[in-house]
Amino acid sequence: MHKRILVITASARPVSNSEILADEFARGAREAGHQVEKIRLRDKDMHFCNGCYDCEADEHRCSQHDDVAPILDKMADADVIVFATPIYFYEMSGRLKTLLDRTMPIYFRPCRFSEVYFIAAGTDSNETAMQAAINGVQAWISCFSDARLAGTIRGAGASMPGDARTHSAFHRAYVAGRSA
Ligand SMILES: Cc1cc2nc3c(=O)[nH]c(=O)nc-3n(C[C@H](O)[C@H](O)[C@H](O)COP(=O)(O)O)c2cc1C
Repeated sequence: MHKRILVITASARPVSNSEILADEFARGAREAGHQVEKIRLRDKDMHFCNGCYDCEADEHRCSQHDDVAPILDKMADADVIVFATPIYFYEMSGRLKTLLDRTMPIYFRPCRFSEVYFIAAGTDSNETAMQAAINGVQAWISCFSDARLAGTIRGAGASMPGDARTHSAFHRAYVAGRSA
């Protein structure tokens, strides 16, 4: 079955290791016949959740006017969501956490996605140094009853821009996309 795959990248850098891995995942997924769309959060106007609970009302829409609403619509309609983030102080980047906080409107709506992949890049060569970030995404996934963490791709030891191109995770990202 051909799937709708939404890739969301959350790095601050124009040459981003986590985005390089995400692009490789996307290449594999496209070759497998899936429909892939990428959203780069760095290019988006995205405010913090203000905790007002307006989204609990009938329409389940956020009252803020920025770029997040269409992203949420795409997330809700995707079969697969791929998050790609740098590791910042053992956690996901603030950009990604800000988006996850803003997903409250789709928490109240039916969502299609059942598989979530997590891609990360970090300087530390020890993969376990990414566990806090994975736990954070896993906790978010647990709020969506039909979703599961389908896989993680860890670019552990990728530091300088472009390091991911020669990292073993580069191939693993392609394979994961190909078999998504
Ligand atoms: C603010 C900041 C905090 C960081 N904290 C960590 C960390 O805790 N662990 C780690 O392995 N790398 C850390 N790094 C390094 C980045 O994760 C690494 O350079 C990664 O390749 C960046 O991915 P990107 O190119 O996709 O942005 C940090 C970098 C920055 C700028």
